[in-house]
Amino acid sequence: MQPSDLSAARRRMDALVEELNRHNRLYHALDQPEISDAEYDALMGELRRLETELPGEVRPDSPSLRVGAPPAEGFETVPHTSPMLSLDNAMDAGEMRAFHQRVLGLIGTEGDGSLAYAAEPKMDGAAVELVYEAGQLVRGLTRGDGQTGEDVTSNLKHVLSIPLALDVANGRPAPALASIRGEVVLPLAAFARLNEARVEAEEEPFANPRNAAAGSLRMLHDVDLRRLRSLEFRAYALVEGRPDDARQQIELLEILAAWGFGVSRESRVCSGVDEAIAFHEEMQQARGKLPIEIDGTVFKVNDLALQEQIGTLSRAPRWAIAFKFPPEQATTKVQAIDAQVGRTGALTPVAKLEPVQVGGVTVSNASLHNQDEIDRRDVREGDTVVVQRAGDVIPQVVRVVLDGHDDPRPAPYRLPAACPVCDAETVRLAGEVVTRCPNIDCPAQLKNNLRHLSARGALDVDGLGGKLIDQLVSAGHVGRLSDLFGLTAEQLAGLERMGEKSAANLVASLEKARNTTLARFLIALGIRHVGQTLAEILASHFGELEPLLSASEDDLGRVDGVGPTIAESVVRFFGDARNREEIERLRALGVRWEPAAAPRPQDGVLSGKTFVLTGTLSVPRDEARQRIESAGGKVVSSISKKTDYLLAGEKAGSKRDKAASLGVAILDEDAFEALLSGASPAD
Ligand code: IVH
Repeated sequence: MQPSDLSAARRRMDALVEELNRHNRLYHALDQPEISDAEYDALMGELRRLETELPGEVRPDSPSLRVGAPPAEGFETVPHTSPMLSLDNAMDAGEMRAFHQRVLGLIGTEGDGSLAYAAEPKMDGAAVELVYEAGQLVRGLTRGDGQTGEDVTSNLKHVLSIPLALDVANGRPAPALASIRGEVVLPLAAFARLNEARVEAEEEPFANPRNAAAGSLRMLHDVDLRRLRSLEFRAYALVEGRPDDARQQIELLEILAAWGFGVSRESRVCSGVDEAIAFHEEMQQARGKLPIEIDGTVFKVNDLALQEQIGTLSRAPRWAIAFKFPPEQATTKVQAIDAQVGRTGALTPVAKLEPVQVGGVTVSNASLHNQDEIDRRDVREGDTVVVQRAGDVIPQVVRVVLDGHDDPRPAPYRLPAACPVCDAETVRLAGEVVTRCPNIDCPAQLKNNLRHLSARGALDVDGLGGKLIDQLVSAGHVGRLSDLFGLTAEQLAGLERMGEKSAANLVASLEKARNTTLARFLIALGIRHVGQTLAEILASHFGELEPLLSASEDDLGRVDGVGPTIAESVVRFFGDARNREEIERLRALGVRWEPAAAPRPQDGVLSGKTFVLTGTLSVPRDEARQRIESAGGKVVSSISKKTDYLLAGEKAGSKRDKAASLGVAILDEDAFEALLSGASPAD
């Protein structure tokens, strides 16, 4: 290699290492990837090629030297019972056949094509290890770097398909130690709901169900139990604790199912590589109809003794392969970029695309989120772009394709300085990513608020669509939300394309919509950051509207699941005289709701209390944790203002200081015992 080539190669390697390490962090620690898996693989492939050519130049921090990423701060890291391996990939039938030949070579039965594989869907979620001692769940870890994972047991215990104890009535006896591996997935329907709620609350939506699942498992603060309950666990491996008589992978799946685990029902045995490829094609067809996202199929030599014989390399077993589906991406042109004004006045740039098929769905719009996102990807009108879809998510523009032959590009896109609907000057506050139209009377905001109020999760006004809303606002019949409930059949019948019958139907729908629940009413109000989940939390905590109207930020901050941003937003909303007046008008026009069900009865003396443990206790931490949990409390790993108690043993260090500075009650073990026996700590 010429010296000039060498220095160019070095520079490229440096750039790749830095770029890949940044994406690793975004992906693993922050659950917010910026690029697709396919692009990541391409960058990693390029780095690996350069490193093979220049082995002396491999940087010690090269991402090629490790699998996965270091665990994020916050959870305790614990070694796995045995390493959690990865799988080699086959990208097409040729690579699948090559794998099959390799396996046949390794077991010395070259030519015998009928080797049996356990065929399973490759689920696209977060891998976890569950450890059971004498049949009881004692620990659940994320994959982490494969050697050690994060202890997310307390979150995993809320995943309903994870048995807390093995079901031995229907299954084999419980081994002393069982290590079960599987995937935590977020079903697509729940993923769509979660992202809707996030967009609603002006939070960044998750890129795909996998990131959403991983993010949910690693919630540290404000743990949202609903999010955890919507996750599902599906087991695919029994690593420790196999019954002596088990001979096949497929039998292990049956044993897991009998113990009470969910396993993929699609799994079956394939004889030889042709059947395996046929199974893969079948799964690819079925992919769009499955309730969870899968990104390929996994084939494992079914015979466990053969697996042993074939062996494992440091990173992945040689007896298994992940046969991946082609990525759901496509290339198209950006015809225009429009700025849409949302319910809160936020301007969202949307790329209008030349319609293109992505994974069986026609995509013609893709959100570009905000100005920063546009700047980062430098998307301009007329550009050729790669778009992708994961599950039910809003399609995304992954990147611009510049092949050097494009016509001169127009200037970089800027969100307009004036609202495209009402012409008010738009603003972007310091520290915010969102550009807004500040005019609260902007018809776009009113129309979107009306759409929001009449949506199914809110007041569910049947027959009130976007066109009718436009007409009502343009005709001046509706100037604020509450006007909707003052509409008369005569007013409606006077609108274009509106017969008497439809007018009467809408009046009837409005009558029905007047009777609602507190949670739905809260959603309908359109308070920033309050989507379905939050509305339900607030409704069940406060029971009625009045106590919520007078709640302070501190009161709200004490509610599980409510962070400072939400608390501030709620207080600001109810502090605004115009909003109060709207609520009164809505009531006067007959909107009423059932009070929410009373808060859950107290489960134990520590119900709702959050603990952090520190220092050396006289009992193992797990035991202390179990006692707290069985009294209804919760143990988290780091202290915040919302922590109720720090249980401090001998040699408690920085956590004790932090608790003291935050005013969190510090208990020694005697005080803890007193608390458990029902006395208040001040007694
Ligand atoms: S077996 C040694 N089976 O794919 C065996 N993995 O790189 C290792 N995955 O993150 C895994 N579905 O969590 C296996 N049916 C399946 C799977 C599966 C999804 C994930 C696994 C890991 C990745 C492998």
